[in-house]
Amino acid sequence: MTIEIINTTVNFLKEKGITAPQIGIVLGTGLGQLVNHLDIEVEINYSDIPNFPVSTVEFHSGKLLFGTLEGKKVIIMQGRFHLYEGYSLQEITFPVRVLKGLGITSLLVSNAAGAINLNYKKGDLMLLDDHINLQGGSPLAFKNVSDFGERFTDMCTPYDVNLNEKMLAIAQKNQITLHKGVYAAVVGPQLETRAEYRYLKIIGADAVGMSTVPEVIVANHLNLPVIAVSVLTDECNPDDLKPVNIPEIIAVAGEAEPKMIILFKELIKS
Ligand code: HPA
Repeated sequence: MTIEIINTTVNFLKEKGITAPQIGIVLGTGLGQLVNHLDIEVEINYSDIPNFPVSTVEFHSGKLLFGTLEGKKVIIMQGRFHLYEGYSLQEITFPVRVLKGLGITSLLVSNAAGAINLNYKKGDLMLLDDHINLQGGSPLAFKNVSDFGERFTDMCTPYDVNLNEKMLAIAQKNQITLHKGVYAAVVGPQLETRAEYRYLKIIGADAVGMSTVPEVIVANHLNLPVIAVSVLTDECNPDDLKPVNIPEIIAVAGEAEPKMIILFKELIKS
């Protein structure tokens, strides 16, 4: 990866009219409806953006949107890239570097995750307080990483403390249950075995999913304040494990979406 490649994409997007976005948003599985609240100025398919990877999972529509939301200029990634689709960690996080290049000063991320902490229920939301990277690699492990930032990026507070406090206050004010917890990122796409769920619990995970951590690592590399919220779509109880039901996971994400939209909109407003 080179800075020139990133700049090519940044300049292309600027020419398309994406000027001075303040906030970047990455929307996860079943969480695309936030775009209906956006006053859209520019809309571009990932496949039309130079150097962008192209989303393959069919329930991700794969679009970059720019416009106004709650009075702020925001850029939304509708659909993200996953390791399990065959992309590299650098490809997955390329859009985060582009968004930073366009000028965003904070990044909001959403995802769907399984609840490992069984006090947390299906349909609840969880604010990421910390994470465990089980994806077997780093998006920062490449030769010229120091051209882009620190090689040994600090991760003592990966999620922005101020934004997290604000988000918890917003949840309380709107009577939305928002747990705080540790997100473990796995490669997927297979779900976990019972033994793996037990292991995840023992090592301190409250939720498990297949995304977000690479983007958060790169945001930290870029000194870009980041916050992430999971919709807990299923309860991963190793002692009572049922076969995975992907349509149900997507449906639960969809049902919880209005709560996520309130949180994101209120945070953007503030
Ligand atoms: N694992 C288990 N359950 C899930 C996941 C996962 O990665 N994502 C959403 N629900």
